[in-house]
Amino acid sequence: MSASATPRVLVARAVFDEVIERLRQYFEVRHNQGDAVWPQDELIQRLQGADGVFVTGTEAIDTRLLAACPQLRAVCSMAVGYNNIDVAACTERGVLVSNAPDVLTETTADFGFALMMAAARRISESEHFLRAGRWTRWGHDMFAGGDVHGATLGVLGMGRIGQAIARRGALGFGMPVIYHNRSRLAPEIEVRLGARYVAKDELLRQSDHLVLVLPYGPASHHAIGAPELALMKPTATLTNVARGGIVDDAALAQALRERRIAAAGLDVFEGEPAVHPELLTLPNVVLTPHIASASLPTRRAMAHLAADNLIAALGAGPQAGKPPTALNPQVLGVTR
Ligand code: GLV
Repeated sequence: MSASATPRVLVARAVFDEVIERLRQYFEVRHNQGDAVWPQDELIQRLQGADGVFVTGTEAIDTRLLAACPQLRAVCSMAVGYNNIDVAACTERGVLVSNAPDVLTETTADFGFALMMAAARRISESEHFLRAGRWTRWGHDMFAGGDVHGATLGVLGMGRIGQAIARRGALGFGMPVIYHNRSRLAPEIEVRLGARYVAKDELLRQSDHLVLVLPYGPASHHAIGAPELALMKPTATLTNVARGGIVDDAALAQALRERRIAAAGLDVFEGEPAVHPELLTLPNVVLTPHIASASLPTRRAMAHLAADNLIAALGAGPQAGKPPTALNPQVLGVTR
């Protein structure tokens, strides 16, 4: 490959150094290892002349950016969720898009389960109490919460991560599992997971612990708002490891304040990294900064999968022309 033919890529956020080194084997790489905040105009400016971009779940790849970066051929994300990328607009312009599914399924399910358990068993709330030096003696109902084992687990969005959470509940904790999803699972998968399909209202009414694992988009915006929260048990918990915007955070804050549900565990927020101010004041919600996939091995695997896709999408490496987790592989057959 002559120097002038070497494709150029931009890595929009800081990433493991080894991933930059891998990309350098194939490309002229510009990066952001200082993890500077690039407003959209700066991202567009830095993308000038780039053939591919490595992104995360936060950079907006929209029609304005695509129009301003006509040379762009690949947008490869290390996130599984891709609501920040206008995939249809990319497809229209022949830009390959990939995400990073599978490699984070089990890690994210672990975290969703942990968050649900922390909410049910009041772990954050009691730790704050202890750290504040307020623990002076044992009390018969001190921080008594709900049980997890044997309680009914509800899963809204039964994709890969939802199924991994259901498996943990059914096999590890003896939980009856109910779920609602756009499409019903095949009967043999339902049997294997011990999961029963129910209507959304029934899911809300019957779940002791409801976990949200559905993708975000116009159809799931505020899928859980005041009317849905009103159907839940006052002893129930709600956990969101999917995306901000699926829950109406203001309505949730009100329900938690009025104890219309017992507790919540939230890893994602509407307008994050901003968090609804009332949520920050409530004791019965566990709050984490969008880290459900953040085990070190999994974050490495996600970053390497994005790199695999970028290398292959730009015609290099052992999988040249066949990015492993492309969302619109059809664009590769089209000459631009
Ligand atoms: C994280 O939220 C992801 O989509 O990977």
